Amino acid sequence: MTGGSAPTGPAPPASDAVVVAAVGDIHLGTDSRGLLRPAFAVLPDCADLLLLAGDLTRHGTVEEAAVVAEELRGCGVPVVAVLGNHDYHSGQEAEVGRVLCDAGVVVLEGRSTVVSAGGHQVGVAGTKGFCGGFAGRSAGEFGEPEMKAFVRAARQSAGRLAEALAYLADRACDVRIALTHFSPVPDTLAGEPLEIYPFLGTYLLAEAIDSVGADLAVHGHAHLGTEHGLTTGGVRVRNVAQPVIRHAFALYRLPVGPARATGAPPSP
Ligand SMILES: [Fe+2]
Ligand SMILES: [Fe+2]
Repeated sequence: MTGGSAPTGPAPPASDAVVVAAVGDIHLGTDSRGLLRPAFAVLPDCADLLLLAGDLTRHGTVEEAAVVAEELRGCGVPVVAVLGNHDYHSGQEAEVGRVLCDAGVVVLEGRSTVVSAGGHQVGVAGTKGFCGGFAGRSAGEFGEPEMKAFVRAARQSAGRLAEALAYLADRACDVRIALTHFSPVPDTLAGEPLEIYPFLGTYLLAEAIDSVGADLAVHGHAHLGTEHGLTTGGVRVRNVAQPVIRHAFALYRLPVGPARATGAPPSP
C-alpha cells in the first residue's frame, strides 16, 4: 500500500474568466424532490458559482422552500439567489429565505455579496425588483394612493439595487453582476404579450444598473421571453427563466483582468 497526502504548494493560477451558471423560475413544489439535484451535482465541473433569479417555488411555502434547499444542499459551488413574486405569495418570504440560507444559499434583497469563485472575487447585487413598465409606456407616481404605492415599490427596489451595486463598486471585485427577478429591459421580454410588459419589469432597474455599471444583469420572470438583451448603457442582460433557457441552468463566461478591460462580451 502506498501512502499519500494532499498536494501542498501554491494554489493554481486563477483562470482569465468566471463561469456563471444561472437559472430562474424553477418553480419547485413538494412533488419536485430530486428533479434538479442530478443537474446541480455537475456544477463544480462546469461553473464557478450558481445564480438563482427567483420564483424558486410555486406558492412560496416553507415546505416548497425545503425542497429547493435539498436540491441545492452541497452542490459544490457558491449559490446566490433573489426571491421572485411566487416566493412571496404565501406571505412566508422571510421563512423561505431562512430555509435557503440554512442550506448555504446567500439570499439577497437590496444588498450585495462578494463570493470567492474560481479564484476570483465575484460581486453580486440583488433585489427582486418589481413591475411598472418601460420608457414611454410606464406607470407614473400620480393619482390614487394605490397607484403611487405601486410605482413607489418599483422605485424603492431600483434604489436598493443601485445602492447595492455602488457598494460593490467600492470593493475589489473581478466582476460585478446585477441579479433580479423582474426584468430591467424590454428586449428579453420579446415573445411575451405586449399587454403584460408593464407587469414583467421596469426601466427603473436598468437605470439603476446603468448608473453604476455591471458586467452582466441576470433576471427571470418572463417565461415566454428571450434570453439576450442589453440596457441602454450597454450592460448585457440575460433572461434565465427556465422555460426560456430550456436547461437546468445557462452558463456565461465573464472575462476578468485584461480581457474584462477590453469589454469582451460574456459568452454564449
Ligand atoms: Fe416564474
Ligand atoms: Fe415571477
